[in-house]
Formats: sequence, C-alpha cells, structure tokens
Amino acid sequence: MPVPPSSGRLQWTDVPPLLRALLETALGAPVAEAVTPGGGFGHQLAAALRLDGGRRVFVKAAPDDDPLTGANVHEAAVLDALPPGAPAPDLLGVHHAASWTAVVIAHLDGPHPDLSPRSGDAGQTWALLDKLTSSPAPAPYAEAVRAKPSTAAALHGWNELLTAPPADLDPVARDRLPQLAELEASWPTLAHGDRIVHADLRADNMVRDHDRGVTFVDWAHATTGPACIDAASLAPQLVLAGHAPADVARLLRDHPATANSPGTTTAYLAALTGHWHRNARQPAPPGAPGLRAYQHRAAAAGLALLRHRLR
Ligand SMILES: Nc1ncnc2c1ncn2[C@@H]1O[C@H](COP(=O)(O)OP(=O)(O)OP(=O)(O)O)[C@@H](O)[C@H]1O
Ligand SMILES: [Mg+2]
Repeated sequence: MPVPPSSGRLQWTDVPPLLRALLETALGAPVAEAVTPGGGFGHQLAAALRLDGGRRVFVKAAPDDDPLTGANVHEAAVLDALPPGAPAPDLLGVHHAASWTAVVIAHLDGPHPDLSPRSGDAGQTWALLDKLTSSPAPAPYAEAVRAKPSTAAALHGWNELLTAPPADLDPVARDRLPQLAELEASWPTLAHGDRIVHADLRADNMVRDHDRGVTFVDWAHATTGPACIDAASLAPQLVLAGHAPADVARLLRDHPATANSPGTTTAYLAALTGHWHRNARQPAPPGAPGLRAYQHRAAAAGLALLRHRLR
C-alpha cells in the first residue's frame, strides 16, 4: 500500500494509469482538469474531474488495501439505495483496475454551506434532517447498510479520560467525568433505530449546490439508527460556526428528530464529545494534518452544549 501523503490528499496523477484510462473510457472523454476541493481530513483521492467538453464528475479513489476503499464501496451502495429526494448526489459508477477502486459520483456545484448565524443554510439543514428522519429508512437502504457496523454506535472517550484525567481537561468536564462516562456507557444500547443516519455531518461533508441547495456528501459512515444522531451531530457544528450554545441547545430540544428522545440525544452527544476529547489528545495520523486541532475545537463545542443538557 502506498504511504499516504503526510499532508493533503492523493492526486489524480497518483491514480494508476490503468484506472485513469478505464475511467476516461467509462466517462467518454479525457480528463482535462482535476480539482481537489478543500475540506475533510482523508488522504484518498477526492477530486472534481472536468472532462474535455466541460462535463464534471466527482471521484473518490484509493488502493484496495487501504481501508478507505471499503468505506468508498459502502458509500457507493448507500448512494444507490437512498430514496428519491434524499439530499445526496447520484452514484454514477464503481470501477476497479490495478488493485485500486474508484467511485464516481454526480458533481455538485457550489461551496460548503455557511452554518453561521448570518446564513439561511443552517435552517435549511435542520429542515433536511426533519424530512430525512421523519419516516423509517426504506428496505433497500436498510439492506445496503446492514453488514457494516455503525461507527456512531462505537463512539466513546470519557471512559478512558475518567481513568487518567489529562491535566488540561476543561474543569466543566473534570467535575462531571463520572456522569459523562455513565452517559456514554448507556449510548451503545440506545444506538439502534430504523432511520437513515449520515453519521458524519459537518459543513465540509455538505455542498450548497447552485440548483439543489444544501446537499449531504461523504456517506461513507451511513447507517441506520435513532433519528437524533444527525441533528445532535449538527448542533456542535453550529456552535463552531458561531451560534451561541444556548440557542443551539434550544433548537436541539425542539427539533422533531430530537424532541422526543432527550435521553438518547444526550447519550449520543456525550459519546461524540468524549470521542473528540479523547482523540484530540492522540498523535496525529498521517495524511490528516488538521484533524487534531479540529477535534479540540469540536470537543469544546460539544461540551458547551452538554452543559445545557446535564443537571
Ligand atoms: N459530489 C460532489 N460534488 C462536488 N464536490 C464534492 C462532492 N462530494 C464531495 N465533494 C467535496 O469534496 C470534499 C471531499 O469529499 P468527501 O468528504 O466525500 O471525501 P472524504 O475523503 O471521505 O472526506 P473525509 O476527509 O471527510 O473523510 C468534500 O469536503 C466536498 O468539498
Ligand atoms: Mg468528507
């Protein structure tokens, strides 16, 4: 397996020539330009390809012995199985050559949404989550995600921090460590449900497409679960984007995806925040230069929200 780049992503020219040729044949035109968008922490190829003639597609690719290929193949199956009208781009194809796999996805045109208070994008995202979680996932989607264990269900961190609290741990967390660890321990049994869950909702996993509006991308962790997961994931992202934690806590309390399951929502938020607090203190993985700094910020945002939910 090629060593992932120590900073940034694999490029189109890193893809084996055999797979590049196969893709160009399948797409019906040579690639004129490959643009790697900003956003995300992965090391694989994730690029917008502009073909001769002007058409654009989005491609994710990695060697077959890279775990990201399994994630990409899962994402392809999910995109294929999401119900019509879901806020996701269409799958265009999956291609294998030279022990690499490429997933080709319809290109979305636009920036990441602006989740700050001055934009309407956050409101649009809450509305999308209401629609996405208001009824059970259709059977083809449930089947597509059945075999893959949910990464959301496995989130944890407070248990380890309780054993050896780091010196720089926020006093708010330090004072509540046993409670946070207990909430987190309750999460795995609450993590089951029949709703569509994206499970990695951040602004950089969304595109505000000029035609479609806010659309979710990067469905690599998609699963089924309780309706609250994506709304509770969005909440700390809004704090990071500048919303007051008290305002977001109110939205979380009242949103249709979370209002009826306050206990499950709090347990998930505790597990997610514990994951951030623990992982932010781990050594940085190769190919993901901004990850630990992001996790420190996200850990603080999650804790600011938990303060409003814990007694
Ligand atoms: N269909 C698409 N059309 C246009 N741009 C896209 C599309 N899908 C993703 N992007 C952009 O490419 C970036 C990387 O894509 P994506 O998040 O799917 O890759 P990833 O390697 O799984 O990311 P991560 O690092 O989050 O694991 C996104 O942040 C987004 O800006
Ligand atoms: Mg991403």
